Amino acid sequence: MSKKLWGGRFQAELDQLGADFGASINFDQLMAEEDLIGSLAHVKMLGHTGILTADEVHAITTGLEALQTDLAAGKLQFSTDNEDIHMNLEALLTEKIGPVAGKLHTARSRNDQVATDFHLYVKRRLPKVLEQIRHFQAVLVKLAEENVTTVMPGYTHLQHAQPISLAQSFLAYFNMLQRDYERFEFNQQHTDLLPLGSAALAGTTFPIDREFTADELGFQNLYTNSLDAVSDRDFALEFLSNSAILMMHLSRLSEELSLWVSQEFKFVELSDAYTTGSSIMPQKKNPDMVELIRGKTGRIYGHLMSLLTTMKGLPLAYNKDLQEDKEGVFDTVKTILPTLKIYTGMLQTMKINQEQMYASTKNDYSNATELADYLANQGVPFREAHAIVGQLVFKGLQEHRNLQDMELAELQAASPLITADVYHVLQPEVAVERRNSVGGTGFKAIKTQIKQAHAILANE
Ligand code: ARG
Repeated sequence: MSKKLWGGRFQAELDQLGADFGASINFDQLMAEEDLIGSLAHVKMLGHTGILTADEVHAITTGLEALQTDLAAGKLQFSTDNEDIHMNLEALLTEKIGPVAGKLHTARSRNDQVATDFHLYVKRRLPKVLEQIRHFQAVLVKLAEENVTTVMPGYTHLQHAQPISLAQSFLAYFNMLQRDYERFEFNQQHTDLLPLGSAALAGTTFPIDREFTADELGFQNLYTNSLDAVSDRDFALEFLSNSAILMMHLSRLSEELSLWVSQEFKFVELSDAYTTGSSIMPQKKNPDMVELIRGKTGRIYGHLMSLLTTMKGLPLAYNKDLQEDKEGVFDTVKTILPTLKIYTGMLQTMKINQEQMYASTKNDYSNATELADYLANQGVPFREAHAIVGQLVFKGLQEHRNLQDMELAELQAASPLITADVYHVLQPEVAVERRNSVGGTGFKAIKTQIKQAHAILANE
């Protein structure tokens, strides 16, 4: 008989390389806390239903609690002799309380056990992600409030398009983050389903009480089908997918910031706390965090693709492939929480060069739409107005002059409908201030957006 937990049916030992290859203890020990919490609830249910005696439950509970204390003190030693966290903890429990430890696994399989641990792991991290997103959003709103009248170039195709308020940019990211928040919030629903009690795949003949266990563990709902329960990883896929989208948003912001700190833009300066120097070029100040966050987005996409691919070929129910579900999720948690924290700090300490932003809207043709709209307001069909202004821009480009630098007579040669009041509307700050359609960059429209953002933040 093999020495393994399942040894009864085996004559020879598992190949050593195979054993190491199959072991997950090196990474799934991150779920040790969840495994102990799950076991405590399970044994309590076994007592409540009379499946185990009060003495047995007492012995097992005391042992599990002692393991919790040891774990918190960093005193638990795990070994690959026991392939995963579940077997390691069972072995450690046996060391502590003897053979009665073997009763803990009554009416349970590692299949519903690991699924439960993993649900618990994600369930306990989601509130932290939500909280970090909220902190980040609060900083974005504050920056928006401070910069309602900060005028900067708005871009399409990375070309100066129309001047905008810097607040409009911050609020755009606020809204992206709000959708992220809502996605993670929804993620809780599919995470808050308890698999425990599904046993290996088909349920159990023991008179268990799954509602009792769910209450103990703080789960809202039970899986209604045991095959689904032990092999569903949608909650993890949703977590990875939500994280991938979140990182995509932060990567876009990173891309923006890496342009904004460049010598060509000089729109912002990041604090020394979030930048690094060069070992050779003494003048350098590199936006490392910004770049690294953009870079790490790729690995989160990878984790999502990896689990989607693992899942696509799995017949019901549990398959060992599922052991591959965890590392990507652990790494994602380890990535997105600090990313959100760092971003929050980085934006809070960033210096905004308002003059430079404004100056770069002065020396371009981003007020061309204003002139076209001005003519359209006088009854000129917009297409015609567009062509008239286009010709003025062409002339300006050849003579190295902007629209606002042209004499009134020159403008009137293009259209006699133009009068001296045009110089007012050609100013970038006026162009911004007046764009008050709902969601627009006009100062009033932005103040409405800020109010809405505050309502969202207050409404928790
Ligand atoms: N370490 C395994 C995993 O992470 C636990 C479940 C093992 N179950 C089994 N029947 N081999 O998926």
